[in-house]
Amino acid sequence: LHVIHIAAEMAPVAKVGGLGDVVTGLSKALQKKGHLVEIVLPKYDCMRYELVRDLKALDVPVESYFDGRLYKNKIWTGTVEGLPVYFIEPQHPGNFFWRGQFYGENDDFKRFSFFSRAALELLLQVGKKPDIIHCHDWQTAFVAPLYWDLYVPKGLNSARICFTCHNFEYQGTAPATELASCGLNVYHLNRPDRMQDNSAQDRINSIKGAIVFSNIVTTVSPTYAQEVRSAEGGRGLHSTLHSHSKKFVGILNGIDTEAWNPATDNFLKVQYNANDIEGKAENKEDLRRCLRLSSNDVRRPLVGCITRLVPQKGVHLIRHAIYRTLELGGQFVLLGSSPVPHIQREFEDIANHFQSHEHVRLILKYDESLSHLIYAATDMLIIPSIFEPCGLTQMIAMRYGSIPIARKTGGLNDSVFDVDDDTIPVQYRNGFTFLTADEQGFNNALERAFNFYKNNIDGWKQLVQKDMGIDFSWESSASLYEELYAKSVARSRAANR
Ligand code: ADP
Ligand code: GLC
Repeated sequence: LHVIHIAAEMAPVAKVGGLGDVVTGLSKALQKKGHLVEIVLPKYDCMRYELVRDLKALDVPVESYFDGRLYKNKIWTGTVEGLPVYFIEPQHPGNFFWRGQFYGENDDFKRFSFFSRAALELLLQVGKKPDIIHCHDWQTAFVAPLYWDLYVPKGLNSARICFTCHNFEYQGTAPATELASCGLNVYHLNRPDRMQDNSAQDRINSIKGAIVFSNIVTTVSPTYAQEVRSAEGGRGLHSTLHSHSKKFVGILNGIDTEAWNPATDNFLKVQYNANDIEGKAENKEDLRRCLRLSSNDVRRPLVGCITRLVPQKGVHLIRHAIYRTLELGGQFVLLGSSPVPHIQREFEDIANHFQSHEHVRLILKYDESLSHLIYAATDMLIIPSIFEPCGLTQMIAMRYGSIPIARKTGGLNDSVFDVDDDTIPVQYRNGFTFLTADEQGFNNALERAFNFYKNNIDGWKQLVQKDMGIDFSWESSASLYEELYAKSVARSRAANR
């Protein structure tokens, strides 16, 4: 199959969170299975250009319509992680993607509806005939209605559309009139069974549009796919999902096991593997040294948290975890940053409070290399999310032998199984979980983890080795996508015969 992803992120060149990891990981896995996979991204100024190989511009620009005029887009090609990528660079003052950040601009709705249209225009003008166009999250959700309304009539008609929603909290809504900028027909689409927001008649909802107009709709874990069928979980889109339930499925993400591999990871002081985990202790010492934490007791548990600091991630429990870990005699390291100013300030205050503490360090920024070292160095990683569509940090943690302490929600519920849960076969038990999103619930899981760590040294070592051996690769999930794609393509061919 020929699959083209249109996305706002791609690891490691343009990554904010898990979306970037998924686009790259899934694409690499599909490519390995023999499919032709290409990716279309905006050309951001803040990308990690040093990781793009053979970057060069095409001779002819692609013209795309927006806000009543034609924009010239310079098209760049390059290779990222062995995958062919097209980068779109609109040529006009106030360039949409030269803002020093990926998201968080007031005109994000415009920026990404522009990008969605330009991406389809690129496919049309360079003569692509993909079998599948796969778009992700609200930023490229516009692709689905644009494709059927404007591009099939123009002849870009070979593809089925797959849409993956990585988070139903971000729906890309705007006053209905804004839809006209990218050339969509507001009158035609602002209807309850199309793109009209379910709670405001004068607003359109881009995720809803993608659910209605895509052939395949997925989200990133089976449990989350259930949760979003409720009014609260679906953030108002549950009824739309019910109407389109036949094409909606939850597939658990994998992780890129080449990028996340403690046996080859160059960011680590010492590489290690499940058969020889001695190197883990050396990385722990290295991290403690780097962060100026006390290292007088190698058996003092080191607890980590790597996250965007947004309410979804349970920030009140993360804050609580710092203090509770100290009370229990552990050390705590947080790597994270927040797009929400008051949360960022709150954690800056905590970071300052602990700045020379021997057992706590908060690093409030995005730091790829440090994240690798923290996964390797920590004994436990906390993920106390209020909701979590999939979550990747628990899987990466396990791959590095850091035991997850997670709330049972979304993809965490599909990947972390409590060591004390008798209803789960022993071989699947891999971490510590809790249900209620409060301090008591969290304490219970953390305390059980500490007791296990302190009192059962051999058992803990076995747990570390077992977690490192779990297969979190994309292999099986990519096969599920492959199946969905193939069935959808076959259905459309049969219908056209
Ligand atoms: P989300 O996409 O909701 O942020 P995920 O668990 O799916 O959550 O993915 C988070 C990804 O971002 C992981 O690869 C994690 O290692 C990475 N990450 C999160 N915060 C940071 C940070 N401050 N520095 C480096 N990497 C981070
Ligand atoms: C979103 C979700 C996260 C998921 C990631 C990749 O950012 O918040 O749970 O793992 O997308 O699908």
